Amino acid sequence: MVAIRGATTVEKDTPNEIKSAVGELIAQILSRNNISAEKIICVTFSSTNDLRSYYPAKAAREWGLFTVPLFSALEPDIKGALGKCIRVLMLVESNVKPIPVYLRGASALRKDLSAVYNVAIDGPAGSGKSTVAKKVAEKFGIICLDTGAMYRACALKCLTEGVSVSDENAVNLVLRDTVVTVKNGNGAQLTYLDGVNVTDKIRTNEISMAASTVSAHALVRSKMVDLQREIASKTSCVLDGRDIGTNVLPCADFKFYLTARPEVRARRRADENAIKGINSDYDKILKEIILRDSQDENRSIAPLKIAADAVVIDTSDMSIDEVVSAVVCKIQEKI
Ligand code: DC
Repeated sequence: MVAIRGATTVEKDTPNEIKSAVGELIAQILSRNNISAEKIICVTFSSTNDLRSYYPAKAAREWGLFTVPLFSALEPDIKGALGKCIRVLMLVESNVKPIPVYLRGASALRKDLSAVYNVAIDGPAGSGKSTVAKKVAEKFGIICLDTGAMYRACALKCLTEGVSVSDENAVNLVLRDTVVTVKNGNGAQLTYLDGVNVTDKIRTNEISMAASTVSAHALVRSKMVDLQREIASKTSCVLDGRDIGTNVLPCADFKFYLTARPEVRARRRADENAIKGINSDYDKILKEIILRDSQDENRSIAPLKIAADAVVIDTSDMSIDEVVSAVVCKIQEKI
């Protein structure tokens, strides 16, 4: 037995529109999954609170599911959720991988756990986005792509080649033959520079500043963005960065922008260093964070900014778990 999910929308709350949308949804689920109506075990519908003129279950009965157990329920009001929407969960006798079906306005909804979807988490340094991105990815069983690590690898290459990261022509020359790749190693991202694992080497203050500078160059960005888009098109993932929701994936299924007061972000960095046994100067970290924000926000290509449709979360006075559950709740609201 498998469960097939689907959803559709109507323009108006009228019996005729609901009957036609439900009929189309059932027919499409059966045809796209290549199954006959006799294989249906039961069907559950839910519809948003703004659809009251007709029960989807009644529409399904009239469409031809005469003997199948059917059930309809009204959903609670959820602010910002897609309106005039009918969702369905169909249990069928089959052992093939189910194909979810999202029609009309519902095609913008997250397709299903079996389809590719992307979560963009942008924000400045120290806003908590990498930790939150990893935990959210873990919750949904998908990969996490730390896009900052890619720019860090580019910066490392320049520094080891003795090239100034602000010299765009020299950077372009060095990076022409540079290969940055990422792999998933036991749930954590491993970053490779020309085939060498540089995951730990790119986590220094020097590299943070250099990555911010190098990432302002057009060629560097287009190379890294192409790689990010390629990964995101094939695999469901949470991407954390500066320009994911605005530039890399403007149509990402879910967008978040995490921020926090600079003093809080500097304190977090200093505390992280202390845990690693590294002595650090809080004032210096604060200055660097403010400088990096300014560089990232003011560059001409894909600067750090809030996407118009992103959910903004100020994490200053929140624990990581609180931020994770806020993000997870927002995602689930849209599912
Ligand atoms: O997230 P991070 O601290 O690892 O990022 C390092 C730098 O890389 C950051 O200061 C700006 C740049 N970056 C970017 O321009 N675009 C991204 N999507 C991610 C990072």
